Amino acid sequence: MIQAIGILTGGGDAPGLNAAIRAVTKSAFLHHRWQVVGIEQGYEGLMDPVQTEPLNAASVRGILPKGGTILHSSSRGDPYQWPEEDADGNRIYRDRHKEILRNADRLGLDGLICIGGDGTLSVAKRLSDEGLAVIGIPKTIDNDLPHTDYTFGFNTALTTATEALDKLHTTAESHDRGMVVEVMGRYAGWIALESAIAGGADVALIPEIPFEMEPVFDKIRSRMAGGRLFSLVVVGEGATPAGRKHIVQETSNETGCQERLGGIGEWVTNQLEEEFDVSTRCVVLGHLQRGGSPTAFDRILATRFGVKAVTALENGLSAHMVCARGKEITTVPLEEVTGNLKTIPPHGHMTVTAEKLGICLGRPLPA
Ligand code: F6P
Repeated sequence: MIQAIGILTGGGDAPGLNAAIRAVTKSAFLHHRWQVVGIEQGYEGLMDPVQTEPLNAASVRGILPKGGTILHSSSRGDPYQWPEEDADGNRIYRDRHKEILRNADRLGLDGLICIGGDGTLSVAKRLSDEGLAVIGIPKTIDNDLPHTDYTFGFNTALTTATEALDKLHTTAESHDRGMVVEVMGRYAGWIALESAIAGGADVALIPEIPFEMEPVFDKIRSRMAGGRLFSLVVVGEGATPAGRKHIVQETSNETGCQERLGGIGEWVTNQLEEEFDVSTRCVVLGHLQRGGSPTAFDRILATRFGVKAVTALENGLSAHMVCARGKEITTVPLEEVTGNLKTIPPHGHMTVTAEKLGICLGRPLPA
């Protein structure tokens, strides 16, 4: 019999986190009368000293349309290799996962719902291997988690990027300029490709297709020959010129975990300015894509995920992630999810659609 569960949000924030927290709290607390413990700052809130708050109807009132997460989030790292500094200021890594198991036990948690991307869910899997009942909920604006059609946050980020392209379109056209827009997405090009399609871009460069500049130049030349002197180029932050590596701002973030991507938009802009006698501007959308009120799509997806996660715990499930397949919300074992990325098939429906519209993907357009 479940009496209490914990919930946490890990990794980078994404619009819809509050909708998911609300759905879990409403269905667990109001429907089942379980106690719901909100854990702050991701897994860090279950380490010593614990940072928690009880969640009830009052705590989730009014949060559905709000971006961010009321529980706060942290990309600080992996509790199995927690980054710290020794007395001399050198970075060291300590395994602190036992604190999490001990504190979950002390708090009387019969289950834990972990909302996050690959990093958060990998830790969730390891904790479940040690006996804690854990259910994952997939979130990330990057939409790069496998076995789910969508992660929440993606639709909002895509809408933000598309709206930005609409705005940049008119100013590019007025000034007969090239406009390069760098979007997030890490090593997956979902935001880049889908915003390029939705926003009517001329070029989309995505991590899944190492690109050449010559087909991009050809595309722009043919637009110029037709009297259209402006062009809109979308570049995913993880896109790479053929034969080169990702452009990174930092080889690791503050915890030493991940590359911080960024800079490819500027690189492409310079190439265009060298090739054409047309001024070109670069806009990096950055964290704008992570903020703001979730779209209706993301609110509904996050809500359905939250309710399903509670049902999964009620049914005695552990080590699973809730996921969207077609119109269904179902579950998949975490071990099938973690460590794998869902990227765009280079010759799949989405790239074929783009190329049939004449969007250049940095390779020659098919005949
Ligand atoms: O994974 C989400 C994401 O926004 C990526 O698209 C981006 O590369 C990264 O996080 C940025 O991370 P940070 O907030 O640490 O700069």
